[in-house]
Amino acid sequence: MDQNPYHVPVMANEVVEMLRPISPRLVVDATYGGGGHTQALLDAFPELQVVAIDQDPDAIAQGPVGDRVRLVRANFSSLDEIAREICQKGGAGDGSCIDGFLFDLGVSSHQFDEAGRGFSYRRRGPVDMRMDRDAEPGADTIVNEWPVDDIADILWRYGEERMARRIARAIVAARPISDTQHLADVVAGAVPAALKRHKHPAKKTFQAIRIAVNNELGSLELGLEAAIHWVRPGGRVLVIAYHSLEDRIVKRRFAAGATGCVCPPDFPVCTCGRVAELQLPVRHPLRPTQAEIVANPRARSALMRVVQKVQL
Ligand SMILES: C[S@@+](CC[C@H](N)C(=O)[O-])C[C@H]1O[C@@H](n2cnc3c(N)ncnc32)[C@H](O)[C@@H]1O
Repeated sequence: MDQNPYHVPVMANEVVEMLRPISPRLVVDATYGGGGHTQALLDAFPELQVVAIDQDPDAIAQGPVGDRVRLVRANFSSLDEIAREICQKGGAGDGSCIDGFLFDLGVSSHQFDEAGRGFSYRRRGPVDMRMDRDAEPGADTIVNEWPVDDIADILWRYGEERMARRIARAIVAARPISDTQHLADVVAGAVPAALKRHKHPAKKTFQAIRIAVNNELGSLELGLEAAIHWVRPGGRVLVIAYHSLEDRIVKRRFAAGATGCVCPPDFPVCTCGRVAELQLPVRHPLRPTQAEIVANPRARSALMRVVQKVQL
């Protein structure tokens, strides 16, 4: 099979197989990217309609993609409104109508590899990192205008970078930071040699700034909440995460939804009244096969979690 030059979909077979038991007719692909997952789903389910969302105009510009796909340029933080509009004309008693939601988080290969987008510490480009080019601010505002404490804070929170304060001070001292290569060099200069052996020294800093620029964790919380609300009873929500910060949010929300009665075990009857809204069709997260990782090293850190809405 020819590989999509825009982005090779990760765990596409697993995505299809996790939706197969529910025979989906309507799926929201909340992260369309290069459309690889959407295409795999269309191929697997001939009756399927897909609403495909992406905030990046480059992703949307690849369309149109046939009459079974509706492309929507939006941030999935507004998924509640999008799903409400989709379900207005029918659905289950509570208004929910969507069989499946898919979130394949993070950036696409296209975004990462395109120097002009400023996501990569290996390519010279503007310090930008916005998935939605109409959104503000870009990464240049963070590195060239933010106070040192605020920079250190995001490097620590979103990059889990132990050298956060040293790197933040080096960034502020090197202003103006002119491009991504300059930023990567400044970070490399601030990190002790012993910590540079295994990973590129700027990897965590770039990840942290990207997450802050795109408010990735805040959007994920909102998008996940909307998906859980609007998926029909018996429907499924699938999330592929690539680092522990986003996976933690997914894991906790799914676990909370799958928790029923919390009364002490010696209570004869439940008095808390809590009922699980979700169940976990697979208890542990799914990972890509070794063969997939060899074929597509960017799949290496992927972790897929799945929940099913309880049929009441
Ligand atoms: C990993 S890629 C998805 C690749 C896609 N599944 C495929 O098979 O080609 C992630 C995509 O999601 C988009 N994205 C990330 N966060 C988003 C958000 N909050 N709202 C909308 N799109 C988002 C990015 O712009 C990017 O195109």
